[in-house]
Amino acid sequence: MDQEQLKQQIKQLAAERNALLMAHNYQRDEVQEIADVTGDSLALSMEAAKTDKDVIVFCGVHFMAESAAILAPEKTVLLPREDAGCPMADMITDEQLRQFKAEHPDGVVVTYVNSTAAVKAESDICCTSSNAINVARSLEAKKLLMVPDRNLGRFIAKHVPEKECICWEGYCPTHDRLSVEEIRQAKAEHPDAVFMAHPECTPEILDMADHICSTSGMYEYAKTNPAKTFIVGTENGILWRLKVENPEKEFIMPSRRLVCPNMKLTSLEDILKCLQTLEPRITVDETTREKAKQSLDRMLAVPRD
Ligand code: 13P
Ligand code: SF4
Repeated sequence: MDQEQLKQQIKQLAAERNALLMAHNYQRDEVQEIADVTGDSLALSMEAAKTDKDVIVFCGVHFMAESAAILAPEKTVLLPREDAGCPMADMITDEQLRQFKAEHPDGVVVTYVNSTAAVKAESDICCTSSNAINVARSLEAKKLLMVPDRNLGRFIAKHVPEKECICWEGYCPTHDRLSVEEIRQAKAEHPDAVFMAHPECTPEILDMADHICSTSGMYEYAKTNPAKTFIVGTENGILWRLKVENPEKEFIMPSRRLVCPNMKLTSLEDILKCLQTLEPRITVDETTREKAKQSLDRMLAVPRD
């Protein structure tokens, strides 16, 4: 079967199953192309919470499908590749978080959505890369325990200096390996380019950025900024929509290593199979779900810019 036939079959079966196809901005081009909704972690979670479809096919990684299952327990949430995990989410367990809290009893736990349901359940509030600063500012507490991403934690600490931020030593292997030298070189080769970076990059890289934002923030920035060339400091899946929406602009990847292998696992064949079998299904046990949902609900209640 060629790609077009596959896409047609997926669309037809998705309609029969009353399924919503969601794809994160880092998914393969062809997966983003057939999705009903593409977006960053926050946008996709919110869409999952409000959809009236019976089935959500989450083309992304495990924690994202879990978030959908937490927010929409009555729906069938499918993750086409069960092995699509997030190494950063696995860098802290609920047991480790309980220990961290015990060491800082006056700290309020702010957990990046790139985390397991069990860790969310042990947290006070969640955040994503698009609302992290607003979430930190919304809290009365002076001491924040930022988990699991040390880079996002340091980014918040810099922009919300009135708070003490204690960061867990987790990181995204894909963003963390972007080097200062690679950015220097990209800037030297493209002196008129602006550099946009994701807050999962290291503080040294963020210091070199003209704009720091979530993946969806990059679409907005690329559209509205008059620059013609952009150096892109995030996973390369973002290029597809950047190019579709801005055909007259140029987007430069500063490194060939900005690839998340987990995000690239899902193929059209996997999506078709999961619609046929309604497997693999992602569920969260009810006690964990209720507690994790509180952390997500608190985040969703924070006003957006
Ligand atoms: P956002 O989609 O929130 O920008 O996060 C990026 C990411 O690494 C998701 O895994
Ligand atoms: Fe996790 Fe990084 Fe991949 Fe996002 S890009 S899923 S944070 S490993």
